[in-house]
Amino acid sequence: MAERSGDGSRGGRAREDAASAVSAVIGVVGAGTMGAGIAQVALLAGHQVLLYDAVSGAAERGAAGVRARLDRAVERGRLTAGERAAIESRFSIAGDLAAFAPAALVVEAIVEDAAVKRELFARLEDVVTDDAILASNTSSISVTALGAGLRHPERVVGMHFFNPAPVMRLVEIISGLTTAPEVAERAAELAHAWGKTPVRCASTPGFIVNRVARPFYGEALRLVEERAATPATIDAALRESGGFPMGPFELMDLIGVDVNLAVSTSVWQATGHDPRYTPAWTQREHVAAGLLGRKSGRGFHRYAKDGGRVEPAPSELPATAARRASPARVWLEIDENTGEPGGDLGPAAGLLPLLRQAGVEIVRGTANAAATGDTLRLPSGVPLCLTNGATATSAGDGRVLFDLVHDWEHARRVVIAPAADAPAEAVREATGLFQACGKLVSVVEDVAGLLVAGTVARLINEAADVVYRGEASEADVDTAMRLGANYPIGPMEWGARVGARWTLTVLRNLDGAYPTGRYRPSPLLVRWAESERAYRRLGAFKRLAVEVLEENDTGVAESDGD
Ligand SMILES: NC(=O)c1ccc[n+]([C@@H]2O[C@H](COP(=O)([O-])OP(=O)(O)OC[C@H]3O[C@@H](n4cnc5c(N)ncnc54)[C@H](O)[C@@H]3O)[C@@H](O)[C@H]2O)c1
Repeated sequence: MAERSGDGSRGGRAREDAASAVSAVIGVVGAGTMGAGIAQVALLAGHQVLLYDAVSGAAERGAAGVRARLDRAVERGRLTAGERAAIESRFSIAGDLAAFAPAALVVEAIVEDAAVKRELFARLEDVVTDDAILASNTSSISVTALGAGLRHPERVVGMHFFNPAPVMRLVEIISGLTTAPEVAERAAELAHAWGKTPVRCASTPGFIVNRVARPFYGEALRLVEERAATPATIDAALRESGGFPMGPFELMDLIGVDVNLAVSTSVWQATGHDPRYTPAWTQREHVAAGLLGRKSGRGFHRYAKDGGRVEPAPSELPATAARRASPARVWLEIDENTGEPGGDLGPAAGLLPLLRQAGVEIVRGTANAAATGDTLRLPSGVPLCLTNGATATSAGDGRVLFDLVHDWEHARRVVIAPAADAPAEAVREATGLFQACGKLVSVVEDVAGLLVAGTVARLINEAADVVYRGEASEADVDTAMRLGANYPIGPMEWGARVGARWTLTVLRNLDGAYPTGRYRPSPLLVRWAESERAYRRLGAFKRLAVEVLEENDTGVAESDGD
């Protein structure tokens, strides 16, 4: 059995708000990747921690991993030898589940199998006190289902840590239908005291991060299946235009293509085969072939034995256009009749200061044919427009489209797609224009939604749907995606920047191109976009979202405006 700790303090790191919780004994079942990491987090927060694993020797291996990481922390000066010794004295391996009797919280991180997890909780109920919390680190199983059949289902809660648990700040606190609110509250307080950022969500397929992130992979896989661009080009676009830290294919290779497919499949199955989440055949084929990513030496990219990328062949590099001369001037055309705010290219407004800096003259006004909205016109007379989700060819004017860019100033790359009948001269002009702004240019096939815009519109839509269903708050969705998936900004904030109407237009055009239900907009996104007067009055999608939700909360019917 475990010994009690000395004073349990961690010097300057001790947190006042954790004081009451630090005395709590924490049990961790499952000493693999996640269990050992969670045990380490609780130990560092000052708790007495018990670690148990059903496989002989596994708890010792998990504990050895924790000790090795603590040793490294001492070597790097992050822990003193005294703190290290105090932590050690609070850490013990449990020989059986009976040792968990004094635990105030038991977190399970065992095999991802509902029946096995339920059986574990039933056995723990016979051991722990009535007010002990039973938490699951499940990534995909219904927390409601894990509590079913227990004597006290109200004490079961999800505490979804991210890998590596000692490093990742996010913890999703998941309430099943029968979870008591005070149990979720205590779990969130503990996570906070452990230096984590808890977000609250209902027990729905994929919770927040694993659900909202599905389009990031799904759109990329569709684009590759359609030969719109190569994995390298798509990765480069999402990183260098979209502002994501990794491209979808690099990330799938890192996570494991099989692990990523399993999450997609589980969300798809749990939602009754919702076409939004249909797994891609390309991904299934990669798994069938054993192309699992870094761990197998090859996934969507190739890896050396040490896990580093093999030097790509020229054909495996992102498509990057040759240097072209920039036009000296472009025309900025504004349709005064559409009521669009600005006359500033909307979500692409950040391009205009770059053009000015590059010395390109921007002539305002309609230069040639009637304007159809905010658009640039090249000297060749061809429109150069931000994608609205439809193909360039469908506009019928030989236009060149460019993709959504997250941060025009810092983006390295711009993706463009010419219509089938776009003159070669216009492609050269568009390429030279973006190159004059200091960007690399990738010319891709004329595919609906291009590479970044369709992905971002779907991420915003997923986030809106989570909020619409009351599964998590707008703020928690954004926090979850920033901390759990390292997105540059939360999807709701992104929606505020690009606007609900642009997002809805992109989705509707994608829905027209692929009428499968995959791109159906969330009713909340539709409501935001169609609340035209309020939207324009407030000038921000996000503030309107809050207003609509507050109106609903107080039961006030939506007024038809002032
Ligand atoms: N690995 C991740 O990135 C990640 C992230 C978040 C959540 N999760 C979830 O955390 C859980 C554990 O994942 P992992 O990656 O740490 O797995 P893992 O395979 O590394 O470790 C699981 C451990 O649980 C032990 N175990 C299995 N059945 C047991 C039982 N009945 N009783 C006691 N011990 C048992 C195994 O011996 C093993 O040591 C799963 O539910 C998983 O979905 C994993």
